Amino acid sequence: SATEKGGWDSYMDKEIHEEPLAVSDTLLGRFSVDGDLNLDEVRIDEDVFRSIDKIVVIACGSASYAGLVAKYAIEHWVRIPVEIELAHEFRYRDPILTPRTLVVAISQSGETMDTLMALRHAREQGSRVLAICNTQGSTIPRESDAVLYTHAGPEIAVASTKAFVAQIVAAYLLGLYLAQVKGTMYRDEIRQIVDNLKAMPEKIQWVLDNQADVIAQTADRMAKAHSFLFLGRHVGYPVAMEGALKLKEIAYTFSEGFAAGELKHGPIALVDEGEPVVVIVPSPRGRDVLHNKVISSIEEVKARGAFTIAVAEVGDPDVEHYADVIFWRPECSTLLSPLTDVVPLQLFAMDMAKLKHYDIDKPRNLAKSVTVE
Ligand code: AGP
Repeated sequence: SATEKGGWDSYMDKEIHEEPLAVSDTLLGRFSVDGDLNLDEVRIDEDVFRSIDKIVVIACGSASYAGLVAKYAIEHWVRIPVEIELAHEFRYRDPILTPRTLVVAISQSGETMDTLMALRHAREQGSRVLAICNTQGSTIPRESDAVLYTHAGPEIAVASTKAFVAQIVAAYLLGLYLAQVKGTMYRDEIRQIVDNLKAMPEKIQWVLDNQADVIAQTADRMAKAHSFLFLGRHVGYPVAMEGALKLKEIAYTFSEGFAAGELKHGPIALVDEGEPVVVIVPSPRGRDVLHNKVISSIEEVKARGAFTIAVAEVGDPDVEHYADVIFWRPECSTLLSPLTDVVPLQLFAMDMAKLKHYDIDKPRNLAKSVTVE
């Protein structure tokens, strides 16, 4: 009913608007009085954490994209390899795990059968499994050695939104904690990132308050589009895949997310007059290589007639020359940008589904948690 949805049209709408809270609640209570990260709740010995030399993430769908976002951050902060494995693939492989490998199972529901079977497979081989989960007492955390809960609150809509951002936050906390115990970063650097993380709810709120109109208008303009391409680099790559998945799931529109650097290796052949291409643009500050490369990707698809929609940082001077439409986000570091950049893509998919009068919360053929293999 409308009351349960708190006045929102759909649970998805409500849950997207709960993202600032999902992020702040997931950060809450994870610091000691002196400001250091404190993950005592996971009950894995600090020495064990210190010995970890590889992380293997097992997850499906959006949760796997959250894991891929975290890979960029954790490898940078902790200098250990992080592999992302779709749970259903992991299970039938002969994965290389040692007692120093930490397997991280990411799941909103905690009941996804593929992820559960993969975690059993990992444990049978003597690996330690840490669950990042949104559902207290569900099967995946119960069968894991330890759990770090995301505090996004119950997620009802089939398309994951607030749980996705909370999963990124939890995985980042894990990464920063590892950096702290292993000493791969200075205390001040960790503090700085934590402060930046704490500022993210406000930035997400800014997107919700200021970009909803342009997003809805763009959905109107795009209502007849048959397919979408999503491009991103670095952390923008999983964000592109997540944006494409949302559009598939609820607007039933063919869409594909890929790494912008792959364009010339094939996908650019798809670009034709009027083809919508959504591009996740990294921060322009410092005008680093990453930013310039993504801007050139926009130029390349634009030159072939694409209709370009950019997600970019407020004040980016380059993006305006090339993009047809821009969804703005506030300034933030590249590593934290997925938390804001995914928001307009979620809203866009929802608006597209609304226009077509589809059931936003219960899309055809899909279940909230896939409890069969
Ligand atoms: C996301 O919008 C999907 N509905 C789906 O990809 C989901 O993320 C996946 O099935 C994993 O679910 P879980 O997090 O509950 O394990």
